Amino acid sequence: MILSTLLVQLSLIFFEALSVTSMGDSMLGPGLWRVVSVGPCEQQLDMTLDVVRRKVNRTHDGFTAKLTTDEEIDDSFGLRVDICKHVDGGCKPYQVLADESLPRYVQKYAADNARDFLGAAGLDPPDFPIPKGEHVVKNYVFDYSELPEDGIYGEFGADAYIVKEEKDIACLHLDLEYKEKEEEDDDDEE
Ligand SMILES: *[C@@H]1O[C@H](CO)[C@@H](O)[C@H](O)[C@H]1NC(C)=O
Repeated sequence: MILSTLLVQLSLIFFEALSVTSMGDSMLGPGLWRVVSVGPCEQQLDMTLDVVRRKVNRTHDGFTAKLTTDEEIDDSFGLRVDICKHVDGGCKPYQVLADESLPRYVQKYAADNARDFLGAAGLDPPDFPIPKGEHVVKNYVFDYSELPEDGIYGEFGADAYIVKEEKDIACLHLDLEYKEKEEEDDDDEE
């Protein structure tokens, strides 16, 4: 997948949760999320996740993702996202968010999209557990404007991990930006 696409999405969901828990923050307001970059983490881990992003326009990105796993991915897998905030000269640790069950988390926060992704990866039924092997989703288009319009302005880095028994199994790094909407933005800029 899928999993990488899902990790992108779950990271965004984590950011939403973050936004809700920091209502006092003056940097909070309506805007639009953007994935600045997506790629491998510095650490080399057991399971490989590859994801390539293609910009469609200001609100949509296409993701092509590949997951290679030699284990079935079930309820024994969890999720952790280490978030930092880009400030002058570096990325300062900001928050760590985690859930011990990846399938349960996905079911709770992204059930519809998960069905879509898993279906696009050819899983029938489109649900966990994800069988071992290689799974590919080509050019899955994601609409950022579907995300709730309340976030913390700024640029963030996120390492999204799949974990099992407290061991990091796979990781994807994202740089995300949340900024005020500019209605007159050109869609063909790059
Ligand atoms: C961006 O691309 C998506 C997917 O092709 C399309 O549905 C949407 O209307 C486009 N938005 C704009 C503002 O062109």
